[in-house]
Amino acid sequence: MIHCLCNNLRTSCVRRAIEAGARRPQDVHRHHGHRVNCGRCLASIAEEISEAALKAPAAPSLATPEAVMPLAAK
Ligand code: FES
Repeated sequence: MIHCLCNNLRTSCVRRAIEAGARRPQDVHRHHGHRVNCGRCLASIAEEISEAALKAPAAPSLATPEAVMPLAAK
């Protein structure tokens, strides 16, 4: 699928940019050395980013048991 007609960005291009750290549609364009032109692709690229985020393994939680449950008085 072609997401961006102005810059000929296909799904594989978008996914490569996401794997390289793109978290916004503008990041995807920047990754490939392009600029947003008409902007019609932004929603579909954002959707691709959201889908990738849902498939990604969850980040380790910063919450420790002590942070979740107050320490018992000693
Ligand atoms: S379709 Fe992507 S900038 Fe126009």
